[in-house]
Amino acid sequence: MRRLILFLGSLCFVAGSAARAADPAEFPTAVKPFLTAHCVKCHGPEKQAGDFRLDDLTADVGKHAERWATVRDQVRDGLMPPAKEQKPDQAKARQVVAWASAAIGTRPARLPNQGNLIPHELLFGTPATVGSASPARVWRLAPPAYQSFVRGVFRERLDGIVSPFALLGERGFRDFADLYSLDEASTELLLRNAALIVDAQTGTEVKNGKPTGRNGSVREFVELMTPDVEPARAKLEVAVQAQFRLAVARPATPDEVERYVGLYQKGAKNTGDRPGAAKTMLQAVLLRADAMYRYEVGTGPAEASGRRMLSPLEIEQAVSLTLGNKRVPPFATALNVASAKGTAAIREAVANHVRVSLSDPKADTERVMGFFREYFEYHRAPEVFKDKPKDFVHAASQLVADTDRLVAEIVASDKDVFRELLTTQKTFVNYTVRDDKKTNRKNVPMQSVPPPPFRKEKGEVFKAGVEPVYGFTDWPETQPVESPKDTRIGVLMQPSWLVAWSTNFETDPVRRGRWVRERLLGGTVPDLPIGVVAQVPDEPHRTFRDRLTVTRAAQCWKCHQKMDELGLPFEQFDHYGRFRTTETVRDTEATAKNVDKKGKLLGPVDKQVRLVTTGLIVDSGVPSLEGAVKDPRDMIRKIANSDRARQVFVRHAFRYFLGRNESLADAKSLQDADAAYVKSGGSFKALVESLLTSDSFLYRVATAAPGGAK
Ligand code: HEC
Ligand code: HEC
Repeated sequence: MRRLILFLGSLCFVAGSAARAADPAEFPTAVKPFLTAHCVKCHGPEKQAGDFRLDDLTADVGKHAERWATVRDQVRDGLMPPAKEQKPDQAKARQVVAWASAAIGTRPARLPNQGNLIPHELLFGTPATVGSASPARVWRLAPPAYQSFVRGVFRERLDGIVSPFALLGERGFRDFADLYSLDEASTELLLRNAALIVDAQTGTEVKNGKPTGRNGSVREFVELMTPDVEPARAKLEVAVQAQFRLAVARPATPDEVERYVGLYQKGAKNTGDRPGAAKTMLQAVLLRADAMYRYEVGTGPAEASGRRMLSPLEIEQAVSLTLGNKRVPPFATALNVASAKGTAAIREAVANHVRVSLSDPKADTERVMGFFREYFEYHRAPEVFKDKPKDFVHAASQLVADTDRLVAEIVASDKDVFRELLTTQKTFVNYTVRDDKKTNRKNVPMQSVPPPPFRKEKGEVFKAGVEPVYGFTDWPETQPVESPKDTRIGVLMQPSWLVAWSTNFETDPVRRGRWVRERLLGGTVPDLPIGVVAQVPDEPHRTFRDRLTVTRAAQCWKCHQKMDELGLPFEQFDHYGRFRTTETVRDTEATAKNVDKKGKLLGPVDKQVRLVTTGLIVDSGVPSLEGAVKDPRDMIRKIANSDRARQVFVRHAFRYFLGRNESLADAKSLQDADAAYVKSGGSFKALVESLLTSDSFLYRVATAAPGGAK
């Protein structure tokens, strides 16, 4: 083990880019003038609104780091200057935010939900002409990719493998290259897993003095397990090559073969344990950085600007791990040929490959479809029923499966995908497919066993996953089926989404509105401050809309005006996603009168009150969107038809498929992707093809030397 670790050097990479230092020259030319123009009249010598003064802040940030941090946050989140004041120039505001961030020593916004901090107009406002590059990076395999790596190197069942890679608990896209590095605990797990895998690959039994493999073991490896026979060099070479193909999906170079055979020879000589040395050699290949990581440093030729294209091998691996969870090298040859002809030919080869992969009916679509799950987050529905019986979770999973099916159908049609996702009248209802062995037909719809009706508190019956949730009285034989007119449209009115964006007992207009603000309008909402009592009063005689008026207090409304009115139209549905036209509230009077002969209270009495479904779009940055909406369908149709929402969708696709937030420099890649999408009549495939052939995907720039921080 020690030798193995020495051989590997350090497994711990850090892929992050170092924080940029603040340029002191910018303070007098950009920062100070901004504060003087927009802030000092309320936070200066005469007046200190909110007990806050900032005219005395200097470039010596260290002394006032805390004050600088609040200034930065207020400007970044668009809270200051207050809304009624003249809005500062966005680019200048950003410069102040960047300067202050650098001066305080925090990194640029790189968390999944911070992508929108770049104002939309700066990316789509003016045509961009210059292409960009991503920072050079090594990106550890995503958890599903690690699992398929393990399945790839050992095809039979393997017990004891613990996934060394976890994802952040954030909402939104979580597998960003920049967010993860290998720490000691995960390194230890990797070493353990490698040992388990090689034990399985080499088999463990010895019969009649000869090693025999177990199911799934690799013949070339088993042959190295005889303790008293020195294997011929050729056999070692063959074994190294076999392990390379399994682990890295490419052949080893002669140098690499030399190194690994050398590792074996040294080990066998020092310890006399030949099988042990062979195992160490095989483990070392499994632990190669280019097996555990996506290597995207840019080893292609450099351009005058300093950026480098990815090498054909890097491109091939990046593309295969972007579209799927596995390294597959199906187009290496095409790329190598293309790379001799120049960059345009490389782009064309990548485009071809993306087109073919996305149309391959046999391809594993988990990764591509994962985009829609992480964008909408309807797949979290089963998590909402925390303390409920298993049946609820099962029913919620059925709702998720229905939406998965709907999304797949729309993506397969590949026309006007984004608008369809938001506005389709179609739905699947408790839909399951199976292969019918008798008739030998594939994907036959099956009326899955309707789950039993669930009892909620108060004797209310919840038939999840069956017709009542969707508003059908009979299970529709032919699917997808149209939802009844003026009830639900699109993914945001699928029961799965509505449940996912509910709490255990109630709807969640605040977070639903936040979703619309961030994922459709591309806006931002400052985080819920610590210490704020974020609770609607527990008053069962009032509607939820009515109770949510607590947030109308000025100190709450400055944030909540960005969310609540966008979420309230969804009150059209209850927290199980059922369409409703009235809301059940406690009838106080009737409850008081509900007494027995002796005057003892018999229990609560409910009544139905008419539901209000209106909402309001404000501060969207798009004049034609602003104003009142009458119900959720009205709001979503309006937004779905806007250029803004479509471009925001493109921004999200960029984040998912490039594994990072966009920066200002990515404007051209984003605009090209949007143009490709529009030109193709709303083809999602065209969008992905454009992103994967963009400069942002194919080029890299060197970053500062990897730092030590996580
Ligand atoms: C028209 C007057 C006005 C202008 C202009 C203004 N502010 Fe304010 N600011 C206020 C008021 C009123 C408060 C207190 C209420 C609140 O927090 O909303 C406040 C509070 C603050 C706070 C304290 C917030 C907290 O949570 O403690 C900061 C920091 C701040 N402003 C920064 C700025 C910055 C930076 C600018 C310029 C970009 C600016 N303000 C411009 C009126 C103003
Ligand atoms: C700086 C911005 C900000 C301010 C100020 C703010 N909130 Fe919020 N609030 C949020 C955000 C963001 C969320 C959503 C949190 C999430 O996504 O998990 C939220 C969520 C809520 C929720 C729903 C929480 C839940 O658990 O269901 C309530 C209720 C709420 N806020 C009430 C208030 C009240 C009352 C005030 C004023 C006293 C207030 N908020 C002030 C940003 C703010």
